[in-house]
Amino acid sequence: SSNAMWGGRFAAGPDAIMEAINASIGFDKRMAAQDIAGSRAHASMLAAQGILTDNDAEAIREGLLTVLSEIESGSFEFSTALEDIHMNVEARLKEIIGEPAGRLHTGRSRNDQVATDFKLWVRDQIDAAVSGLEALIQALLVQAEAGAEWVMPGFTHLQTAQPVTWGHHMMAYVEMFGRDISRFIDARARMNESPLGAAALAGTSFPIDRHMTASALGFDRPAANSLDAVSDRDFALEFLSNASICAMHLSRFAEELVIWSSAQFRFVTLSDRFSTGSSIMPQKKNPDAAELIRAKIGRIFGANVALMTVMKGLPLAYSKDMQEDKEQVFDAADNLMLALAAMEGMVKDMSANREPLEAAAASGFSTATDLADWLVRVLDMPFRDAHHVTGTLVAMAESRGCDLPDLSLDDMQSVHATISDEVFTVLGVQNSVASRMSYGGTAPTRVREQVARWKEKLG
Ligand code: ARG
Repeated sequence: SSNAMWGGRFAAGPDAIMEAINASIGFDKRMAAQDIAGSRAHASMLAAQGILTDNDAEAIREGLLTVLSEIESGSFEFSTALEDIHMNVEARLKEIIGEPAGRLHTGRSRNDQVATDFKLWVRDQIDAAVSGLEALIQALLVQAEAGAEWVMPGFTHLQTAQPVTWGHHMMAYVEMFGRDISRFIDARARMNESPLGAAALAGTSFPIDRHMTASALGFDRPAANSLDAVSDRDFALEFLSNASICAMHLSRFAEELVIWSSAQFRFVTLSDRFSTGSSIMPQKKNPDAAELIRAKIGRIFGANVALMTVMKGLPLAYSKDMQEDKEQVFDAADNLMLALAAMEGMVKDMSANREPLEAAAASGFSTATDLADWLVRVLDMPFRDAHHVTGTLVAMAESRGCDLPDLSLDDMQSVHATISDEVFTVLGVQNSVASRMSYGGTAPTRVREQVARWKEKLG
């Protein structure tokens, strides 16, 4: 038999394979609450405009609440033959309230309906991502404040570069996650225009009030062009690109945690609650949460590329290709929220190991730049010469298997005669970080200022 919603011109029903490739109910049922909110707003507007009677609108609104409670309680029977969440809801509404259900779709199409539902869903995920990021930032601030003066090696090329503070390193991630928040907030403002009432593509001849439905659903305004409103998936793509950048940050941090928790580094100890053991090697404590964060990020990048690829060749307006938007965004959102929560949990629970951090900070000639800077500052040497003199001293220390502060004053003077005792005061790591007082620098005072700024910002 043909479809009750659109089968007027059809003599035969769909092939089973057609039904399988066409149906989206398996996943778009996740938008049930958004679909029902959109339909309730639409029904109220139709009544306010005299397009529906108040009685019919009231029956529709009430009936939709019944449908919602059936879905929420799990008693709703989803039908693949009814394709998607929109038609499943409407068909059930008809069973509950009868004839008025058929009047709900006046002045509307599934094209504006799905765009509206999906936007509402993505908007909620943006809010969830922002909360998840804020919670993670709070956890990082606790770490940064506790370790504002703990020294550790700062790296470039994963080779020891200059000493930094633990707090400074934590605050670097706070800046990244803070930008992620602002990207999500920017995207939310841009996407917050209602597609509802764009109808199939051209608008409608009914005297609808799109401003009314827009404000009922928390949109700032109706989308200005009906063709664009039903073809636009920028909001989903922006969500995925913002999620990708955020995920990339999470992955870099996860990678650091994997390295730092190794026996060779011992910079951090991850809690038992966020680690796993090995079934054969009794000594093992593995950083699985960090590894899975690093790995799941691939799915988020994949979703971004997949949806860009779906959209790139589509002529205006709606094409069924666009139904492929949802699974990508659902999967990316689920994994982003999980990764944010797992990272927050790990950061809250982990402890930085001060001694190995400090020992590593002092190794690898990490204060060579301080020595060169001293030659410039005190002996008025041009920086390039100072760099060369210091390099010679590093080579000397390396050949003796010692660190820079272990060289004697005689050793120093054999390379440059006017070096004095005072040089040893700049070779310590505490002194090194304390001297980096430039704005945004690693000095504990500066780190505490960064923490204070963020605390104020987050209220
Ligand atoms: N299930 C469809 C989707 O997810 C809903 C819109 C269908 N519109 C249409 N003209 N077939 O995109």
